[in-house]
Amino acid sequence: MLVDGVHYRTIWIDKDSGKLCMINQLVLPHRFEIVQCETHAAMCAAIKDMVVRGAGLIGASAGYGMWLGALEAPSSSLSEFDEAMVLFGDALKATRPTAKNLAWAVDRQLAAIKKGTSVKEKIAIALNTAQAIADEDAEFCRRIGEHGKKIIQELAGAKAKTNPGEPVNILTHCNAGWLAFVDYGSALSPVFAAHDSGIPVHVWVDETRPRNQGANLTAWELSRHGVPHSLIVDNAGGHLMQHNMVDMVITGADRVTRCGDAANKIGTYLKAVAARDCGVPFYVALPSSTFDFAMRDGVAEIPIEERDGAEVRFVQGKLPDGSLASVQICPDDTGARNWGFDVTPARLITGLISERGVCRASEEAILELFQEHRP
Ligand code: MRU
Repeated sequence: MLVDGVHYRTIWIDKDSGKLCMINQLVLPHRFEIVQCETHAAMCAAIKDMVVRGAGLIGASAGYGMWLGALEAPSSSLSEFDEAMVLFGDALKATRPTAKNLAWAVDRQLAAIKKGTSVKEKIAIALNTAQAIADEDAEFCRRIGEHGKKIIQELAGAKAKTNPGEPVNILTHCNAGWLAFVDYGSALSPVFAAHDSGIPVHVWVDETRPRNQGANLTAWELSRHGVPHSLIVDNAGGHLMQHNMVDMVITGADRVTRCGDAANKIGTYLKAVAARDCGVPFYVALPSSTFDFAMRDGVAEIPIEERDGAEVRFVQGKLPDGSLASVQICPDDTGARNWGFDVTPARLITGLISERGVCRASEEAILELFQEHRP
């Protein structure tokens, strides 16, 4: 996507230096900063500390992290090299457990690298695979935008008859825009596509405590792209839905089971419950790398990351002098728990928007689109 007229992906290899570059998401929206990542260990830290974050992007980052690992792995024998790659993969998988994309990218790399017949060839395969994962992620998200745009277009057509001149009001939670992927995004891709086609849209942006991905990242992306939006506190969505101020909800997902249960940023489930109560359509957008075809029951099976309670006890922001600071919002002796994700059961989801099209959140409908995963 464009930042001040220049096209950026969230992660890329710089053509001149050959270095792996990433947008530092810890300092947005206050600063736009590019950082380099040179080692496998640095990539593990960048994913864990959320320099890069979002399901698709941590998948792509893990893909590149495996390439960095391949450059560091012992080259004396193929078996030693392969063993080291498995350990590098395990370390990457351990950084963040919920998003399927991360483990999926590591496993794809391991399967590809295994086929190499020399260390040199294995390193080349790791680089090509990392690039392929990133390119695919961008292309799949672009297609999600095209499929999702049709839903927004239909809502806009209906709204033009009942409330002429009013935009389609879309509520989203967390950041599932291009910063959460390599490009375009999942939940925001249809919004960008609709806006670019002249369909009037307005986005209600949940702030998304505790890390404020909505306030920091979604709002920044929408403002850079000129999409009308308003920031709301996390608890406002139900009230807005009761007063017909939300035409649809679109969120991203970190892992979706073969039956359509969707893990996404903590708080998503409550939005889905409110949407069902108010008759508001609730869509989940995801590329195929987010599906976990080995899981059925999301609430029982999807691993939910618990992060440091300090993320709840402190809030980061910009001071009037422009410097970034962190402030404590609770008593000194109050502890906190911090679950990063929750699971929205398939029964509350109106539809899934993937690169292959829109389908109901049911095993039958998902497997209709992804026939290769039929038993
Ligand atoms: O903890 P994060 O910022 O990595 O959160 C993950 C997500 O980006 C969201 O849950 C998102 O809505 C899923 S779509 C990338």
